[in-house]
Amino acid sequence: IDAPVEKIASPSVVQSPSPAKKHVTILYASQTGNAQKLAEKYGNQLQQLGLDVTVSSMSDFKTNALKKVQYLLIVASTHGEGEPPDNAISFHNFLHGKRAPKLDHVTFAVLSLGDSSYEYFCQTGKDFDLQLEKLGAKRLVERVDCDLDYAEPAEKWFEAVKDKLLGEAAAAPANIQEAAATTLQEVKEYSRKNPFHAEIIEKINLNGRGSNKETIHLELSLEDSGIVFEPGDCLAIIPFNNKHLVDSLIASLGFDPREQVVVDESTLSLEEALLNTLEITLLTKPLMRKLAEFTENEKFHALLEDPEALKQYIEGRDLLDVATQFGPFQWDAQTFVNCLRKMPARQYSISSSLSAYPDEAHVTIGVVRYEVDGRERHGVCSTYIADQLDVGDQVQVYVQKNPNFKLPDDETPIIMIGPGTGVAPFRAFVQEREERGASGENWLFFGDQHFMTDFLYQKEWLGWLKSGVLTKLDVAFSRDQEEKVYVQHKMLKKAKEFYEWLEKGAAVYVCGDKEMAKDVQEAIVQIIQEQGNKSEEEAREYLEELRKQKRYQRDVY
Ligand code: 2AM
Repeated sequence: IDAPVEKIASPSVVQSPSPAKKHVTILYASQTGNAQKLAEKYGNQLQQLGLDVTVSSMSDFKTNALKKVQYLLIVASTHGEGEPPDNAISFHNFLHGKRAPKLDHVTFAVLSLGDSSYEYFCQTGKDFDLQLEKLGAKRLVERVDCDLDYAEPAEKWFEAVKDKLLGEAAAAPANIQEAAATTLQEVKEYSRKNPFHAEIIEKINLNGRGSNKETIHLELSLEDSGIVFEPGDCLAIIPFNNKHLVDSLIASLGFDPREQVVVDESTLSLEEALLNTLEITLLTKPLMRKLAEFTENEKFHALLEDPEALKQYIEGRDLLDVATQFGPFQWDAQTFVNCLRKMPARQYSISSSLSAYPDEAHVTIGVVRYEVDGRERHGVCSTYIADQLDVGDQVQVYVQKNPNFKLPDDETPIIMIGPGTGVAPFRAFVQEREERGASGENWLFFGDQHFMTDFLYQKEWLGWLKSGVLTKLDVAFSRDQEEKVYVQHKMLKKAKEFYEWLEKGAAVYVCGDKEMAKDVQEAIVQIIQEQGNKSEEEAREYLEELRKQKRYQRDVY
């Protein structure tokens, strides 16, 4: 098996020190690795074009090195409600704080990555862009804010940066540029545009009868794909929209499903476009504003004037709601299609390890169904898989690397906290450690609603506990008793041991939903504070130090 074995903290610095050349510093603020990947790619390209380049995570960048920075490129993604990613917090604070230096010797450009369905779209990139200007730095090219589909706008930004840099940096000799152009031909990789068609080889509902939940364990064959991944990486799945929903939407807008429209330079029927390529189930404020241009419906315009009501309205509703409630719309099918964004792929943490299951990827999918205004709503990807696909069918996938959620070396003990589907990557972690015969201890905290129906992968965990691969297992079944019991309550109960593990060098991993991750973080701070006899501030610094050493990693959604 040639599954790659990644060293922790693989150096992401590409350096070629040479005082004669112009120097470009590329810093990334990255949560899931997209910004990091772009930064590294740009770094390589610029270096091949003859520039002197340093690429670094913001967390590894020493702020006193700012004095020597000439050209500064920032690739920044935004996290949660407009917050910087974990690896950018200190640098972001530093630049916005009292100790921020004058930067009039710096020329900069910012590329921001984000998700326009969030209110504070690309906020971190915007922050850096504005603050660098305030500190006296000169803008090389205008900032570009990318939505989920970032590949193209990012490329355009980089082209502009490259032109300016080569212009300003008195262009590299033509022969170097030519050589670079040939080496820059990219290796063909599976992507949103070019996904791999993976066959489903197993599909099981992990929840027992009577559960409130439906969690699908899906096994996909990667045979002949050449795809490799590491524990912690994600699988992106490109779903199809629900046909009933598409038909109802087209009918409600009064279009002909066979009408031809152009999406991304290709012509296809409206029905095909809505089934495969465009997002119709998520309402965002920018989308609502666009739609409003085509209707005079007073209620719709009143809704747009009331931010609170608007926020509440778009939560859980879709385009069919808008079409039925706020028409008539004055537009043709093409104008309508132009308002919509490309359907983003859905990402799932891979729950298997290639060493344990060569040529396969397993994912653990929580199926989303709920009702609003008397109509059942379906999570696009989860119900596409739950309701429309079976063993033998194919799904379009590609791997999304996650360099910020990686196993440490084999000797380091790990604590894994993953309630619900958050347990997925930990199944991959433990499989990998078992295959490698890793000596490090493994402690899992798992939680879900009921022991009887919701103990995901119960047999496997108990098997590993018995064989000793899993050192400790603590479970929190929240609804098996009067009082809610969550993973963080179990952690607090084991506070002494938890702290001992931290002190002996353990790495902590948290995967699952945001709210849980926030509460778990507070519990960790409390444990450090109480067990380590520290002030709250000291405890937070201790945790920040763990984060810097990559001993506190999170995959939160
Ligand atoms: P609940 O549904 O009973 O509230 C996986 O979804 C498990 O995480 C469930 O047992 C769920 O409990 C629990 N959970 C919900 N909110 C949580 C939080 N803020 N912190 C930790 N666990 C939480």
